Amino acid sequence: MTPFQYKQNMLYCEDTPLADIANAVGTPAYVYSQAELLRRAAAFQIDNGLACYAVKANGNPALLHLLGQAGMGADVTSGGELFLALHAGISPGKIIYSGVGKLRSEIERALQVNIRALHVESAMELETIAEVAMQQQTIASIGVRVNPNIAVETHPYISTGQREHKFGVSPDTAVAILQFAQQHPWLQPVGLAAHIGSQITDLPPFVESAHFLVKMANELAESGIRLQYLDVGGGLGIDYGEGNVLPLAEWVTAVSQPILQAGYEVVMEPGRSIVGPTGVLLTHVVYTKPQGGKEFLIVDAGMNDLLRPTLYKAQHPIWPVEQVTGTLEVPVTYDVVGPICETGDFLAKARPLPRQEPGNLLAVMQAGAYGFAMASNYNGRPRPAEVLVNSNRYSVIRQRQTYDHLLDGAI
Ligand code: LLP
Repeated sequence: MTPFQYKQNMLYCEDTPLADIANAVGTPAYVYSQAELLRRAAAFQIDNGLACYAVKANGNPALLHLLGQAGMGADVTSGGELFLALHAGISPGKIIYSGVGKLRSEIERALQVNIRALHVESAMELETIAEVAMQQQTIASIGVRVNPNIAVETHPYISTGQREHKFGVSPDTAVAILQFAQQHPWLQPVGLAAHIGSQITDLPPFVESAHFLVKMANELAESGIRLQYLDVGGGLGIDYGEGNVLPLAEWVTAVSQPILQAGYEVVMEPGRSIVGPTGVLLTHVVYTKPQGGKEFLIVDAGMNDLLRPTLYKAQHPIWPVEQVTGTLEVPVTYDVVGPICETGDFLAKARPLPRQEPGNLLAVMQAGAYGFAMASNYNGRPRPAEVLVNSNRYSVIRQRQTYDHLLDGAI
C-alpha cells in the first residue's frame, strides 16, 4: 500500500500528478501524502498507550500539527524540537524529552511548560534537573533511559542500545537514579525507556527490549517504586527496496502486549515509520555524462537535500515520474549524483533506470524521514520546498529558501 502510484504512466501522490507539483513549485522538492501520514499515525493509537512522534525524523510544523490532531504526542531531543512540538499545538502532557546533552536552559523550559517527563541519560544530568526543579519549586517527572545492551542489525551509526554507546545508562545506574528520585522532594520517577536503534526490520530485539523493561519495572515495584509507563522507543524500519518490512500493527501489538499485560501504560517513539514512506524527493535530470566507464546522471538534488545515501549507504528506490515504453525502457546503470563538489555526493550508485534525458523528473522514494530534517545549505544551496498532498489538492508547507536565506544572521 503506497500513496505513490502510476496512472496512465504518470506517477501520482494520492490523486495529484507529481509532475504538476514539480512544474508549479520547482525542484528539488519534498512531497508528502497526508492520507498516508494519518493512516500511519492511526496504527499507533492504542488503549493505554501513547505514541510520541520522534520530531527529529521530520519537524515540519504542518506535519506536526496533523500528527498532534491525530492524537500523537512528541518525543523531542532539543529545546528547538520542544518549541516546534508546542508550536504545533501538542499538549505538554504528551511530550517526552530524550537526549544525552540537555542544557540547563532546555531543562528549565521543559519544566516551565510541564512536559510529561524528562528522560534522564546520566547521573550528572539528574543533578541538574533536581537543581532546576528546586529552583522553580516544581516537581519534575522523570523517566530513565536505560541501555538494555541489545545488539541489532542496522547501520552502526544508528544502533544505540549497546553497552558501549553513549546513550542511556546501565540497568544498575537506572535503578540508582530512580531510587534517588523517589527520595527527592522535587523529583518524581514515572517511567523507564529504552531505544535500541533505528531502521530495525526484525521484531525479536524489540520484544526482548519490552520484556527487559517489564522485568526491571517489576523489580523496581518490589522495592517500592511504581512506574506509570514503559517506553519502548522507536526504531521500526521501513522498506528501502529490500521488501522485508514489518506491518505497523504487528510491531505495535508485539511491543505493547508484554507491557500492557504487566499493568503499565506503553509509550512508543516512532519517527521513520510514521513519515518515511509518506514522502518523496522530486528532482530533475540536469545532464547525463558518460565518464570513466560509468554513466552519471546529474540531477538537481544533492547530498545537502538528502544526506542518507552517502552517510549511511541508504538505498532509496528511484522512480521515473513518467514511465516510458519501448526501447527507452531498456535500463541503463546510472550513478545518480548531485551538483555538490564532493565525490560522496550521490543519491544512488550503479542504479538501473530507463534511459534518462535532461528535464526528466525522478522521485527518490521513502524520503519523508531524515530527509528535509538533515538538509543543509552546503555549497550555497537554498533548502528545498516541502509540499503536502491531500487527494487532488496540494499546498506548499514550506517555501523553498531564496538566496536571501543564505544571508540569515550574517552581519
Ligand atoms: N527515540 C529516540 C530516543 C531516538 O534517538 C530516535 C532516533 C527515535 C526515537 C526515532 O527512531 P525511528 O523510529 O525514527 O527509527 N538519521 C538517521 C536516523 C537517526 C535516528 C536517531 N534516533 C537516518 O537517517 O537513518
